[in-house]
Amino acid sequence: MKEFFSFRLVPWAVFCVIAIILYMLVAYGDSVYPILVTNLAILEKSYVNGTNISTNYSTAQRITYIQTTSFVSMVSVSTKSNRNIENVLSNRSVPSLTDDELKQIKRTWYNSPIVVMKYKLIFFWNEKSGCSYWKSLLQFIQGLKHDDMHNPSVNGLQYLINFKDKDIVSMMYNDSWTKAIFVREPRERILSCYLEKGLNDGFMMVNCKRTVKTFSEFLELAKQCFNAHWESQVRVPMYFYKNMMIGKMTDISTFTKKLLTKIGAWNETVKYWLDSKDSEKKSRSHAQNAGDKLLQYYNDTKLQDVIFEMFEDDFDVFNFERKYFDFNKNGVKTLNTVYS
Ligand SMILES: *[C@@H]1O[C@H](CO)[C@@H](O)[C@H](O)[C@H]1NC(C)=O
Ligand SMILES: *[C@@H]1O[C@H](CO)[C@@H](O)[C@H](O)[C@H]1NC(C)=O
Ligand SMILES: *[C@@H]1O[C@H](CO)[C@@H](O)[C@H](O)[C@H]1NC(C)=O
Ligand SMILES: *[C@@H]1O[C@H](CO)[C@@H](O)[C@H](O)[C@H]1NC(C)=O
Ligand SMILES: *[C@@H]1O[C@H](CO)[C@@H](O)[C@H](O)[C@H]1NC(C)=O
Ligand SMILES: *[C@@H]1O[C@H](CO)[C@@H](O)[C@H](O)[C@H]1NC(C)=O
Ligand SMILES: *[C@@H]1O[C@H](CO)[C@@H](O)[C@H](O)[C@H]1NC(C)=O
Repeated sequence: MKEFFSFRLVPWAVFCVIAIILYMLVAYGDSVYPILVTNLAILEKSYVNGTNISTNYSTAQRITYIQTTSFVSMVSVSTKSNRNIENVLSNRSVPSLTDDELKQIKRTWYNSPIVVMKYKLIFFWNEKSGCSYWKSLLQFIQGLKHDDMHNPSVNGLQYLINFKDKDIVSMMYNDSWTKAIFVREPRERILSCYLEKGLNDGFMMVNCKRTVKTFSEFLELAKQCFNAHWESQVRVPMYFYKNMMIGKMTDISTFTKKLLTKIGAWNETVKYWLDSKDSEKKSRSHAQNAGDKLLQYYNDTKLQDVIFEMFEDDFDVFNFERKYFDFNKNGVKTLNTVYS
């Protein structure tokens, strides 16, 4: 017993314990504290201790949480099962964005979301979804009179990509900032793309290095040749759409009024300006028989199925109906519904 225990070893033992505690504090810092991951389909307490923990949740969403200490800890959620809108749009409890998410949100200098400081608005516009209308309106409400509204270096508009990352994170999570997006039905949008860009041989050669003739040829190429005009309109991590005003082409006027009223930019002057633009548009018969065009090009269900699949996220997130167009011009046959 005597050889086994010696009082001379006590200081060493105390020293060792202190050393271990100090080491853990330095090494793991505040990442030894538990983080409560909330608002997922399952509530899960994850003790993050410097190791990446990956848990299978029953959400379709990919959530990544990164703690900004030197010992990075990550909770990542990724599964395809149980895909439904509630889960896709579930909240995130910790305001943070990964580099990839920031990149996704900021996009490029040419098609970054538009920021209106005066009205605390971030507007997520989309190519082929009324973007000329929105750019000129956002210019108007700020009293900007520049021409060439599509050119960011002269149009006077501010773009999210020019903000600091930390400001983007706080703006994205700050409810004082109105976030709005304007979208178009994917079948309509991609057809409009085909008619305007797909049949433009110059555009197709520059962007895809080949030309196409038919609509289905164009769709095949669109799957391989990336271009913002036919990219998904889901352009930020999905849970942000829950707190976003979502406008659709079919109710552009009511949405405009609703959005401008919310941010405090609606008045008679704007209304008058919009009305005059409206009549200008009508006189040019811009919205020429769009319905006929749709029926002409989507004359069977197969092509529509292709779009349903290509733009699955758009249909889910923006709640577009997956309903085949009615081919019977007399409207005798009722509409078919898929994915009921
Ligand atoms: C998301 O957060 C909001 C407000 O913070 C809350 O009202 C809502 O219930 C949350 N949704 C989910 C699915 O947890
Ligand atoms: C991290 O913490 C959890 C929960 O306390 C524990 O089960 C796990 O073994 C720890 N991992 C490491 C590498 O220490
Ligand atoms: C944890 O995740 C980071 C970032 O993805 C990665 O660099 C690192 O190798 C991971 N560590 C472990 C132990 O898996
Ligand atoms: C999650 O579950 C799926 C299906 O059960 C499996 O294929 C996948 O590897 C799991 N992922 C993780 C991180 O455990
Ligand atoms: C109407 O609103 C616009 C911004 O939308 C503003 O520039 C203008 O000064 C307002 N006019 C009046 C009379 O309040
Ligand atoms: C949210 O934004 C408003 C307006 O810019 C600002 O006054 C407020 O401090 C911000 N809140 C947070 C938590 O950053
Ligand atoms: C559908 O349209 C294509 C191309 O315009 C045409 O070749 C085909 O015959 C049409 N099919 C039907 C059933 O009308």
